[in-house]
Amino acid sequence: MAEGVRSVTRSGVAAARDLLAPSRRSAVPPFMVMDVMAAAARIEEAGGRVMHMEVGQPAAPAPATAIAAAQRALAGGKIGYTEALGIPPLRARIARHYRESYGIEIDSGRVAVTTGSSAGFIFAFLALFEPGDRVAVACPGYPPYRHILTALGCEPVLIEVSAATRWSITAETLLAAHRMAPLAGVLVASPANPTGTMIAGDRLEELIRAAEDAGIKFISDEIYHGLDYAFPAETAAKFSNRAVIINSFSKYFCMTGWRVGWMVVPDALVRTVDRLQQNLAISVPALSQIAAEAAFDGRAEMEAVKHGYEVNRKVLVEGLPRAGLDKFLPVDGAFYLYADVSRFTNDSFAFAKRMLEETHVAATPGIDFDPVHGREFVRFCYAGSEADMREAVQRIGDWLRRG
Ligand SMILES: Cc1ncc(COP(=O)(O)O)c(C=O)c1O
Repeated sequence: MAEGVRSVTRSGVAAARDLLAPSRRSAVPPFMVMDVMAAAARIEEAGGRVMHMEVGQPAAPAPATAIAAAQRALAGGKIGYTEALGIPPLRARIARHYRESYGIEIDSGRVAVTTGSSAGFIFAFLALFEPGDRVAVACPGYPPYRHILTALGCEPVLIEVSAATRWSITAETLLAAHRMAPLAGVLVASPANPTGTMIAGDRLEELIRAAEDAGIKFISDEIYHGLDYAFPAETAAKFSNRAVIINSFSKYFCMTGWRVGWMVVPDALVRTVDRLQQNLAISVPALSQIAAEAAFDGRAEMEAVKHGYEVNRKVLVEGLPRAGLDKFLPVDGAFYLYADVSRFTNDSFAFAKRMLEETHVAATPGIDFDPVHGREFVRFCYAGSEADMREAVQRIGDWLRRG
């Protein structure tokens, strides 16, 4: 009897534990930058002034046109669900953006409004891939690409990029990975996070051709378009109407917290994305969609913000080498500079932590983006003020000279 009670209790404990056990696919790694942010917050609570170069978001607010449109809509009272693919005027305005910015015609019926580009990845992966499918992404790269793929049961395949291929996946490296084991897809970003590097238009076209000829589905993350300094960013939509394009109002339009982005999807997948959105989110917040449409009228304001990034970029490109950080990737676009700190450390997390404690400059250790070589890199975001950039360069220089 006693034995029976014990075994029931044991299995009861096990059952309770099972009820609380997270699924294996939900075990995605955390963002190490959060630890840096928490340490920065502690310094600020104690009265210190931190130069925030760790978080990849603009310091500026959304365009005044967007804020005013949202305020008008809010005053009107009713904010309801919208059509799953987005409000028609916003979809039409996004289509017009392709004509104005890239000189190509996109049917507004192919535009799907999403909750930031983050939701775009989920829809793209669900629409294009089966569980077990192998999908190539660049390493270093934006961590959620691989983590979302894993959570959805796909296998991220990391293609190491380096100076030899101008820090991007090329037709050759993609096909080499495909020969080793077939790929179902590839996701490319230009400008990229964390490297800030870009792919030239002819290289992008070549990559898309190579992918599609080999039956590899192409996804283009164009979230940093508009923030290009080295040469103009080209949309994959120009080269293929089978590629899935993902974009967002978060970066160029400074609307991270509004959570609104978009996809351009092939005709054949429009209804699929429509059904996914209906079921997973119903619609994107209406207020954000209204603001997003008006954001396009605030381009002059956003170009001034972009000009500020260009000034900051120059401050860092000229100042960091003098400060002692003289090895970094080409600073082509977005608002990131990816610095090689291997001369000082093989533990970028400890380096970033010590830099924060001793200089109050917060940056992101490369291990977030690259499990292979990230220990030798640190990412600096230059979306803050010029004064902060100058101060940061000064502090880093003094610190590195002190040793
Ligand atoms: C390369 C890249 N893609 C996508 C995102 C996600 O942005 P959002 O969901 O705000 O559009 C980010 C955010 O930092 C990013 O750096």
